[in-house]
Amino acid sequence: MTPPGFASTRQTGASKPRAGGPSHGAVCAAVRIEVARLPVPVAASYHAGAAPIAGAVTDVARTVPLVLAAGRGAKRLEAMNGRIINRTNGGGGGGSVILVTGGAGFIGSNFVLQWLATEGTPVVNLDKLTYAGNLHNLASLEADPRHLFVRGDIGDRTLVARLLDAHRPWAIVNFAAESHVDRSIRGPEDFIQTNVVGTFHLLEEARLYHAGLSGPARAGFRFLHVSTDEVYGSLGAQDPAFTETTPYAPNSPYSASKAASDHLVRAYHHTYGLPALTTNCSNNYGPFQFPEKLIPLMILNALRGQALPVYGDGLNVRDWLYVDDHCTAIRQVLGQGRVGETYNIGGRNEMTNLEVVKTVCALLDEARPLAAGRSYASLIQFVEDRAGHDRRYAIDADKIERELGFRPAESFESGIRRTVAWYLDHPAWIESVTSGEYVKWVAAHYGA
Ligand code: NAD
Ligand code: TYD
Repeated sequence: MTPPGFASTRQTGASKPRAGGPSHGAVCAAVRIEVARLPVPVAASYHAGAAPIAGAVTDVARTVPLVLAAGRGAKRLEAMNGRIINRTNGGGGGGSVILVTGGAGFIGSNFVLQWLATEGTPVVNLDKLTYAGNLHNLASLEADPRHLFVRGDIGDRTLVARLLDAHRPWAIVNFAAESHVDRSIRGPEDFIQTNVVGTFHLLEEARLYHAGLSGPARAGFRFLHVSTDEVYGSLGAQDPAFTETTPYAPNSPYSASKAASDHLVRAYHHTYGLPALTTNCSNNYGPFQFPEKLIPLMILNALRGQALPVYGDGLNVRDWLYVDDHCTAIRQVLGQGRVGETYNIGGRNEMTNLEVVKTVCALLDEARPLAAGRSYASLIQFVEDRAGHDRRYAIDADKIERELGFRPAESFESGIRRTVAWYLDHPAWIESVTSGEYVKWVAAHYGA
């Protein structure tokens, strides 16, 4: 018998090993997955019974045996406080596993951590580990057998097919993306490759996998695509907030690539019946955000006594949501959202960039006062505006509030306080992300 969460031997048309790709073993056998060099050891098995193999992987060409067998040391999952997903045995795909892509990035890693703390069922985490992916975000899961990290590209169809076939997830949650607008302006190519082509390849494999399911597994399968409010374009000061029916009008290469992926997801539902859901969320902030984005950049620069670069007049408006609230909303949509629907997620928290930066400065003044009563706000510098800079984003979150009862737990005041405290308390994490690639980006973009 195949215990929940284990790989099934059942082959489907969707998941036969591809030509040229290594074959995988059966239940309770080893699955071999190539992984590239990883900066820190990762737990190599998600199953709450398998003896984890610490995967201190050293060579791109080597393969790591991932044992899927039950074994000694089985750990009972803890009581599921805050659990949302209510499905017998995961409800689809033959098991309780979910496949998360981009789970080493900012929102993805917060989601994986929240998922394991609440839902508690196993996660296979597929991430390419671009500059934005950081396994330090997942360090607390190093010995957690419920988490399996696989380094790889969502556009690698052979790998995705093997993962789906081996782990039989009941859901795919797609966070993987290039996510920074300024980078997309300087070099859009990666955005097209991952956000458009990569999502297309992931959808193709999801479609084939779903087509090979039957019964409750087929009915329970979900593909949740995580997207952004930026696909709707820019609002004037008096315009109503974005609803799910606001026409798409993306303005940056980033938002255009996300819009393209949203359209593909929609088409795969409409044409092939893929049980897809899309979420369009406003700006997130919180722990583990790469310091190229506004809030962590301002915190780090302030602590280093460097200029706080505010684009244009600083009066562009964003709606801000604490990352944990976004993750909760995604779980709600996954558990209770209507298939084929899109859900806007927001915090009803519109602020100008200048207000955000000044709030960060005030919190730092409190926590790390400068000499002679000087404020960090004195470091604010208005710099050249971003090309094509969207003026205002605002989310009408009525649908998710009404249908799914979503309410953010954090106000901006409480969330930004937690965020600033987190960055102050995690100098080692900051150190881990502010070398190499980061230094190059700051020098190229801000001319530092
Ligand atoms: P991020 O840049 O911090 O993380 C992206 C992750 O995806 C990284 O770990 C990276 O290594 C991985 N990745 C990139 N290309 C990949 C590929 N080809 N295959 C596999 N993995 C790949 O981004 P984020 O801020 O965590 O955003 C996650 C998702 O949420 C994105 O789709 C983004 O569009 C969306 N989103 C972000 C925000 C926000 O404010 N950050 C708001 C709304 C929606
Ligand atoms: P960002 O965090 O890059 O998110 P997005 O562009 O996806 O909204 O930027 C948030 C806002 O802050 C945006 O209006 C641009 C502005 N901004 C600055 O003024 N200075 C900066 O150094 C950065 C990175 C952003």
